[in-house]
Amino acid sequence: MFLLNGESRHCVDVSDRGFQYGDGLFETIAVCNGRPLFLQRHLNRLLAGCRRLLIPPPDLSLLESEARQLSAGADRAVLKLMVTRGIGGRGYRQPDQIVPTRLFSLHPSPNYPDSYQTDGIVARFCEWRLAINPGLAGIKHMNRLEQVLARAEWWDESVQEGLMFDSNDCIVEGTMSNLFFAKAGILHTPLLVNCGIEGILRQIVIEFAIRYGLGLAENHFNKQDVLEADEVFVTNSVIGVWPVKQLENQCFDVGRITRDIQQWYAGACEEEANL
Ligand SMILES: Cc1ncc(COP(=O)(O)O)c(C=O)c1O
Repeated sequence: MFLLNGESRHCVDVSDRGFQYGDGLFETIAVCNGRPLFLQRHLNRLLAGCRRLLIPPPDLSLLESEARQLSAGADRAVLKLMVTRGIGGRGYRQPDQIVPTRLFSLHPSPNYPDSYQTDGIVARFCEWRLAINPGLAGIKHMNRLEQVLARAEWWDESVQEGLMFDSNDCIVEGTMSNLFFAKAGILHTPLLVNCGIEGILRQIVIEFAIRYGLGLAENHFNKQDVLEADEVFVTNSVIGVWPVKQLENQCFDVGRITRDIQQWYAGACEEEANL
């Protein structure tokens, strides 16, 4: 199911700058019980991205009503929203009149085994580096070549996620997720000032840490810091919280902090789905 600028079609003009240059932003939203979860947070990040890229933000209430319209009736699904700078302009120069394109699409939920949540996943380190670019750090813009190339590094079905470094050897995030690790009872997550996406779920986990009095360290970390952790997990809006049971040759237990966060997150989702 698609909604392109409010109409149920999906053919985007080839001169759309999203297609030409990746000149746009996107959100991937979990739908549960006919409701887009944490919609407000996704729309806020999208608006922050529009401000950063100088794209006139679409009407928020319109986005909200279209998101709800498309999600209604879907028990479990994934709702994707793309907003681009729209059609035209000569070369990189923007058109004088920017009319953003907005496209919603509804997809089936991916069918991941329950064991990814309960027992954890296997992760690896990727070779491909994230470029340092503070101007684009944090937002969910459409240029994702780094993630595509990092994900192309492995075909082994037994590995579910790859962790990525920046060019300073700082660990940043997964190819499709944010990274957390716990050490001596303190939750750690990489600082995303140079690159990486500030995930919705990452923010929710940080808020849990504050609310429940968990120590939190947001900083630059290296490979060794993660390998020496007691617990490791990755997050995104669709997968939720996946414990990492193995990273390269290092094994981890699914610990207390990861379990607590999974439980708090399940509660928050239930609240959202029944609002
Ligand atoms: C590269 C990357 N980092 C982080 C995330 C997590 O973002 P969110 O929690 O908003 O889903 C994603 C999600 O797709 C991602 O692709």
